[in-house]
Amino acid sequence: MKVAVLGFGTVGVGVYEMLENAPGFEPGPVLVRPGKEDRPFKVSSMEQIANDPEVFAVAEVMGGIEPANSYVSMALAAGKHVVTSNKALVAAHGIELAALAREKGVSFLFSAACGGGVPFLHNLAIASESDAILSLGGILNGTTNFMLDAMQSEGKDYGDVLRQAQALGYAEADPTADVSGLDALRKIMLACAVAYDKLPVEGFCSEGIESITAGDVAHFRSLGLSCRLITSGGPAGDSVYAYVEPVLFPASAPECSVLKNFNMAKYCGQNAGSIVLMGQGAGRYPTASAVVRDLYGLGGMPMLRPACRKVAADNSGCVHDYYVRCAKADAARFSFRERWEDGDLVRGLTEALSVPAMHALAGQIRKEGGGIFFAAVE
Ligand code: HSE
Repeated sequence: MKVAVLGFGTVGVGVYEMLENAPGFEPGPVLVRPGKEDRPFKVSSMEQIANDPEVFAVAEVMGGIEPANSYVSMALAAGKHVVTSNKALVAAHGIELAALAREKGVSFLFSAACGGGVPFLHNLAIASESDAILSLGGILNGTTNFMLDAMQSEGKDYGDVLRQAQALGYAEADPTADVSGLDALRKIMLACAVAYDKLPVEGFCSEGIESITAGDVAHFRSLGLSCRLITSGGPAGDSVYAYVEPVLFPASAPECSVLKNFNMAKYCGQNAGSIVLMGQGAGRYPTASAVVRDLYGLGGMPMLRPACRKVAADNSGCVHDYYVRCAKADAARFSFRERWEDGDLVRGLTEALSVPAMHALAGQIRKEGGGIFFAAVE
């Protein structure tokens, strides 16, 4: 069965190569930009793919919202199954695309959009049919994990490790999505949609690693702590909580053994208990493997159920102690239970604060031109 591939970048090349050896499937036409059709299998017309009776399924790995949304809609409308690695697309239009797929009797699967090679959404879809999912999340961004690991273990600086992550093909086309936490946020949005039939589209809190410095890393290393970018989601009344922020863990925590571009996806089932899935969360072949794996699930369980709807996230019940580094002038905004003076800076551990309160305080300080790094303390 022929699978058309939309996009021939890092992941697209990996998908094409894997399809050459995937029993039951073979690579079909590959959609590239006009003028890039340098091989017979490359085409630049989506209509040609949608109207090709030999194309059984479409693998969308071009990224971005448009034209991906139009092309995926066109493929579904033409009765082709669609698998995608595009978290921005699913976060923005997943509910509508899943409805179109249902109407046409085809599948719309997106395992590769969350966790790279880690079969997180796939397992979550099955687990949430039979068990109540009490919480979910973990380390879902390979780029920032790679960067934090290298800063912590090799003492490298932020710019160097970001360039390295880009060169290794881990980062998004615009790496701001990785370091700002947006990429991880989109992944937790999708996980909540799959597990709870609720896609949070507003109200979330998201903090990335853009403000971390080598000085911060050296300080919390001296306290025996390591930083990871953590996503958290779970039920909250009629809604869900969904947020992303750096978290400091003691060296003995399992999160600290997650190195390089690896992800650690977790969920807790009421009956199953805590389930942890670890593997490479970014990169050509890990992500391509998830795209191709979804092809073997076509016609089976959907990832988004008909009940899935958009909600505003509610993080008001989520509370943590925080590590904060800010200017002395801003320190009075916090109630510290322990603090260290560092020249013009103050570093401290706060009393318990709600997630929205901490994110709002940081936002206010930045709005007024100040600098701050914060991380929840596990
Ligand atoms: N840029 C993403 C990451 C790729 O680093 O995790 C996989 O979604």
